[in-house]
Amino acid sequence: MTSNPSQSTANDTCLVELRHINKAFGGVQAVDDVSLNLYPGEVVAVLGHNGAGKSTLMKMLAGAYPIDSGDVVISGEKVSVRTPSDAQALGIESIYQTLALADNLDSVANLFLGRELLTSWRTLDDHRMDAEARKVFHRLNKNFTNVRIPVRRLSGGQRQVVAISRAIYFNARILIMDEPTAALGPEETAMVGNLIQQLKAEGVGIFLISHDMHDVFALSDRVAVMKNGRMVGTYNTRDVTEDEVLGMIISGKKPDGKEQAPRNPGGRS
Ligand SMILES: Nc1ncnc2c1ncn2[C@@H]1O[C@H](COP(=O)(O)OP(=O)(O)O)[C@@H](O)[C@H]1O
Ligand SMILES: [Mg+2]
Repeated sequence: MTSNPSQSTANDTCLVELRHINKAFGGVQAVDDVSLNLYPGEVVAVLGHNGAGKSTLMKMLAGAYPIDSGDVVISGEKVSVRTPSDAQALGIESIYQTLALADNLDSVANLFLGRELLTSWRTLDDHRMDAEARKVFHRLNKNFTNVRIPVRRLSGGQRQVVAISRAIYFNARILIMDEPTAALGPEETAMVGNLIQQLKAEGVGIFLISHDMHDVFALSDRVAVMKNGRMVGTYNTRDVTEDEVLGMIISGKKPDGKEQAPRNPGGRS
């Protein structure tokens, strides 16, 4: 299978196309004319120093910040993502470093926060939410059973299970993971890695923001490097070395003689 980058961009398998996205905060151009694609079953690592614009770009896709200009195209269709519910309706789920959990609520309540299951009498269906939550938590961690205590009393890994469960339960097609393993121990990090593999196999597309080069090289299909709000370049992960990626992050320049990933990375094995 080969891909031709000069072909029409109308590729029906493309899950997300971010086209010429801009965002300024006051005088700071946080995201500057950035374009980036994501395909089903693909992990694209978004890399760069603090302040590069990674989170701002992803928050626009998640409906947390309005876009100044540029287009978001999902499965070939131009969409407007003005709110987090717009994003969720399009199958976009995000897991932030801070996890954004309601600390005083238990894990079940957090899973369904704002999207509670109702009975046919329009009352909260606590029974079904409890059962469904246990099922999805169990899929990620067999030992996680204390799901009815406030999440502030859970370990980092258990909190992560709750955050990731929200994305899985609501059938994310597009998952944004912003530093998902930053606060985790080795075992929990491995769990997140396994989960990413599993979601990939199900055809979920994942944007992974991470500073951990080991994770990036183990998990991603492509790397996209940003600096000062701009996209430095996008490469197939297998075509670059860790040193080359670190060099791009620091210098903001493409390495010499390296071919960038085509717009359609359909040739990847
Ligand atoms: N809510 C905000 N208000 C003002 N400036 C912001 C806000 N969010 C991000 N910025 C600025 O935008 C730039 C990009 O930040 P960010 O997207 O958080 O970078 P990264 O995630 O790559 O570390 C930085 O200069 C940052 O200070
Ligand atoms: Mg960030």
